[in-house]
Amino acid sequence: MRIVLGVAGGIAAYKACSVLRLLTEAGHQVTVVPTAAALHFVGAATWEALSGRPVSADVWDDVPAVPHVRLGRDWADLVLVAPATADLLARAAHGLADDLLTNTLLTARCPVLLAPAMHTEMWTHPATVANVALLRERGTHVLDPASGRLTGQDTGPGRLPDPEDIVEAAMAAAAAGTPTRQIEDLDLAGRHVVVSAGGTREPLDPVRYLGNRSSGKQGYALAAAASRRGARVSLVSANVTLPVPPGCEVLPVGTALELEQQVGSLVSAGDVDAVVMAAAVADFRPATYAGSKIKKTHGEGDDSAPTIELVRNPDVLAGLVATRGTAAAPYLVGFAAETGDATGDLLTLARAKLARKGCDLLVANEVGVDKTFGQDESTVHVLRRGDSPDEDPLTVGPASKDDVAEAVWDVVAPALP
Ligand code: CTP
Repeated sequence: MRIVLGVAGGIAAYKACSVLRLLTEAGHQVTVVPTAAALHFVGAATWEALSGRPVSADVWDDVPAVPHVRLGRDWADLVLVAPATADLLARAAHGLADDLLTNTLLTARCPVLLAPAMHTEMWTHPATVANVALLRERGTHVLDPASGRLTGQDTGPGRLPDPEDIVEAAMAAAAAGTPTRQIEDLDLAGRHVVVSAGGTREPLDPVRYLGNRSSGKQGYALAAAASRRGARVSLVSANVTLPVPPGCEVLPVGTALELEQQVGSLVSAGDVDAVVMAAAVADFRPATYAGSKIKKTHGEGDDSAPTIELVRNPDVLAGLVATRGTAAAPYLVGFAAETGDATGDLLTLARAKLARKGCDLLVANEVGVDKTFGQDESTVHVLRRGDSPDEDPLTVGPASKDDVAEAVWDVVAPALP
């Protein structure tokens, strides 16, 4: 494999010599591209002797060979930067190209792995955290640094991982073959999508509610994937405790009525291209809300159990379908949480639900106590309105919820008007 080993200007640059040794001994061709700062720590002669190849930090060396394009675009099968300093991460995240290494990062069309090393304060600074999130969002692999002794007496996260671990991660990144995203991967650029996620809670009294087992993982994966593909994402989040996916605006809601109101107000603004209803919306809510906690006993000797009367909640998806035909009507994706029952198997029930709901796409998955809810993997069937019932639907999985999310957008993105 042909590997560009970028070395940024941190004390851990000396450890990159071991990384280089491991790579060349494994038979890889390695071109070392240090930054000017890295050369303060380890000189060009060391890199040239260990790699057996000429070394340059500058785009102005060997100009006729156009090195900034040749290395990244034409030569490298993998670009590995170890150590990647806070400054290098910032320059890479923002597309600066002021030396040969950052030019190479911009022109690379192969997988890129960055191995950060810096003091803990720099690694945990919000600027670095945001830069790393941005890089990962675009498909650049960024290792977490190891924790331990740093340059001085201090310890904490920020150490360059061991050379063997870096090489192992580099091989995994190359094998995964996922290059940094290019503009053509951003098939949702300029789109505004609304994703609902989680499960609504319908309060009975100040301490109790009727809820469901939805974790929000699938909805959050859908939102993250849409954001990676360039969309502006409004994530209507019902009782989810997951971290906010990078680039998404989270709009928290509690109940089905709040969710309906929030989705409705986004859609009525008129610029929403698609709504994905991944949330488990309660079909019913208690008819009355007790303003104070319902007591176990209602009076002396009265130990009867109360009867909870329920009323129907609005069907949010059906409400959106009813707006179809207006200029602002978005593409509508429903999720079918099915267990299958005496009246039919999962697919039969899902097809009936698609017909009943009238949305453009229905993603059907099997749910149960240990299936789908809260799990990291699921199998889904993607049914499009207008598809013949004789046609087998697209089936995805068992796959991670991230892969399911990408597969759903693969269908939705080209279908958007
Ligand atoms: N949904 C909704 N509003 C509701 C209930 C469900 O918008 N009050 C949406 C869900 O977000 C999902 C789809 O409708 O995208 C299907 O939800 P599901 O619970 O599977 O179906 P229901 O219509 O509630 O039908 P049933 O419970 O009878 O299977």
